Formats: sequence, C-alpha cells, structure tokens
Amino acid sequence: MDKYMIDGGRRLFGSVRMQSAKNAVLPLFAASILTEQPVTIRDTPAISDALCMAQILRELGADVRFHGSDVTIDSANAYSHKISSALTKELRSSVFMLGSLLTRFHRARIAYPGGCDIGLRPIDLHLNALKRLGVDISERDGYILCRCDKLRGAEILLDFPSVGATENILLAAIKAEGKTVLQGAAKEPEIVDLQNFLNAMGGKVSGAGTDVIEIEGVSALKGVAYKPAKDRIEAGTFLIAAAICGGEIEVCGVKPENIGSLLHKLRENGCKIHTKNDKIRLESNGRLKCNRRIETLPFPGFPTDLQAQVTALNCTCEGGALVVENLFETRFKYVPELQKMGADIEVKGRNAFVRGVPRLHGASVVAGDLRGGAALVLAALGAEGVSEVLDLSHIDRGYSDLQEKLKSLGAEIKRVRVS
Ligand code: EPZ
Repeated sequence: MDKYMIDGGRRLFGSVRMQSAKNAVLPLFAASILTEQPVTIRDTPAISDALCMAQILRELGADVRFHGSDVTIDSANAYSHKISSALTKELRSSVFMLGSLLTRFHRARIAYPGGCDIGLRPIDLHLNALKRLGVDISERDGYILCRCDKLRGAEILLDFPSVGATENILLAAIKAEGKTVLQGAAKEPEIVDLQNFLNAMGGKVSGAGTDVIEIEGVSALKGVAYKPAKDRIEAGTFLIAAAICGGEIEVCGVKPENIGSLLHKLRENGCKIHTKNDKIRLESNGRLKCNRRIETLPFPGFPTDLQAQVTALNCTCEGGALVVENLFETRFKYVPELQKMGADIEVKGRNAFVRGVPRLHGASVVAGDLRGGAALVLAALGAEGVSEVLDLSHIDRGYSDLQEKLKSLGAEIKRVRVS
C-alpha cells in the first residue's frame, strides 16, 4: 500500500492536460463486446478501474491488449456471459455489462453489486428497464440471472436519470428488434460519448445529452477505433486544487460547459476564470469566500463527483457553506479525515455545514473512497505543514499520474511505498 507525503502551502502555476474520462471509458469497454470485430479505445487512462474492466472482458474470453495507452479488445472468441462476484464487487459500475452481455449472448449473470463506500447503489432502475426490453430476470444465491429470446424495442421511462441505467438501456437496445424511446435519460456528457461510440460502430442512437434518447435497433455492429472525451471530473479536481492553493493554472481538453456548474461556484468563491474552446484558466489570489449553498444534482446540476473536493475548498474560505448531497446516502465519509486537519464541519444526514477557518494544518489521513481521497489530497496541498494521505488504492481507481501532474504545477507531493 502506498501513501502520499505532501508539504502544503505552495501556490500552483502551469498547464495540465486531462486524461480520458474514466466514466466514459468504462461503458466503452462494455460496449466493445457488441461486435465480434476488434475495437480500439485510444488514450485509455492508466487507472485501476480500466484494468478491472479489462479483466472482466478477459474473463468472458475476450482478448484485451494494451499498446501504450491504446487498448484493443477482440471479443470474437468470447464465450461466457458470466461475471464473477469478485470483479462485480471490485467494480460496481460493471452492472452496465448486463446490457451488452444480453445483446451479445441473450444471457447474463452478475453478482448483486451491493453497496459501496458512498451508498446503497441499488440497480432497480436497470432491471426494470431490461424487463421492458423483454428480459426475464431472476435472482439466486446472490446472483442476478438474465435471459431473453430476443430483445425488443420499447418505451422506457426512468423515474430517476440514472447514468448507469441509461447506459445499460443503450447497450441492450442497440440491436433490439424495433425502436426504443427512453424518457428521463441521464444527460451527462459521458452518455454522449457512448452514443458517439455506438454510432461509429453502426448503431442508430440519437438524443444523448437530452432527457429523451431514441435507439433504432440495427442488425450488426462493426469494430471501431475511438478516442473518448477528456475527464471533466479530473479537470474540476485540478481547478479546485488551484483555488485552494492559490496561483494560476490552465486545464486542457475539457469543454467548459461540461463543468459549467462548478465554474459558476468557483467564480462565486472569488476565483477568476477564463475559458477558450477546451481550455479553462483559473486564477486564485487571497482568501476566497464560502459558497453559501452547494447542492449535488444530476447533470447539468453540480456533480456529486466534485462534492468532496468543493467541500474541502470551503473549509478555508471566509464564512459558511451548506453542502447538500442528493445523489448518494453516505458520501461524507471523508469529513472526519478533514476534521483531523482542523476543518470545522458538521454532518447531519445529507447535509454538511462548513464553517471556514483561516488555514488547515497537516495531518495523517486515510482515503476511504475515490473522490473523498482526492479531496484529502487537495486539502493537504493547501494546509500548513506536512500531511500524509494513506491507502492510495481508492485514488488510483480514477486518477492517472495524479502526483506527477500536481508536481508539474509546483506542488510538493511524493508517492511513498508503505508496505
Ligand atoms: C455514475 O454512477 C458514475 N460512475 C458515478 O461516478 C457518479 O457519481 C454517478 O454516475 C452520478 O453521476 C460511472 O459512470 C462509472 P447513478 P452510477 O445510477 O451509474 C440511484 C465516480 O466517482 N439509483 O446515476 O452508479 C443511486 O442509488 C463515480 O467516478 C437507483 O436508485 O450512478 C444514486 O442515488 C462514483 N436505482 C443515484 O441513482 C438504480 O437502479 C445516482 O446513481 C440506479 C441508481
């Protein structure tokens, strides 16, 4: 297990290019088995979630090879429709494999993903939608068993714009007989990426990015080489790091409108932000002001994946902030670790009440989940003195070369082997 040693207090300067979006790449891995022809995903981020998806595909019998940051998936010889419980638990979001397995094999078996560090993570919306497409679903010994004679297009309404359920529906409807109209779809940019990928394979999907997506079933899909969009959550994480540390940085590769709600909040804090095409420049000088209220919502609302990071920012701003987490039940588990650094935060259910203090101080803290861990790194970068952030396995799930990129901006951060 590794840890970060961080000597806080350095301002950040420079430009950094974002990785491909973790939450775009993972569904593309799932979509790769929709064709028996080779698929190449370019510029795949060096993150453990991608390695886990590669393992899941290999378990199905696909041949998965990395050439630098490009990954080629050849599933011509894939023979299994079963995903092991170990891999499903390691990567809960692999539940969208159901849609692609059903399209490929008309059968699918995964272990019930169950909860994780940030919440219960139910999959009722996924399963109800698959039933609408003609899938029989049963559960036995902790496994979900799906089968269908054929997938038939349907009218589907999602009660909640679930990202994963929207992706599962696209993957299951893409070769279904007839047309599927999905109302209440998630509008995240990663859904648009999946639509672009599927259409490049010969699919007929339209409307991604809005709450109505239409999928015209096609008979065959072909191999494709595709470059995913850049990671807007990584970009937001770096912008918040600069807001906390002070200085001036530029993040490249992400459309400003894909994190528009964050940019609005950072301007509210007092940061100067300039955008041009896919470049976002942020300047932060002097003590910032707290955001009075931050409420996480489905896109284009404030992203839950930046909630921990922006809470860390508010810890040393002037005034107070109320942070409301609407998406996940327990996404404040990082707060006690911030309190070790001197943060003044009180959590009550889905609300966190932050009172700004002039500065945090270094401490030894433990990352408990991906975005909470990132928030601890950001807090340590701005804190007085040295911090250590333990258990980097969570951060490694979603951030490639985090310390290298931060060092390139002037941060004093080292990755140290603990055991
Ligand atoms: C995706 O998770 C992302 N993961 C998450 O990012 C992100 O936080 C989340 O969307 C919301 O934006 C990937 O894309 C791989 P949801 P997903 O289904 O699909 C409830 C990160 O840090 N729900 O939109 O699992 C659910 O409980 C990760 O990169 C149901 O009730 O999220 C939650 O409250 C964390 N029933 C809400 O919807 C269902 O069947 C949002 O879940 C499905 C979801």
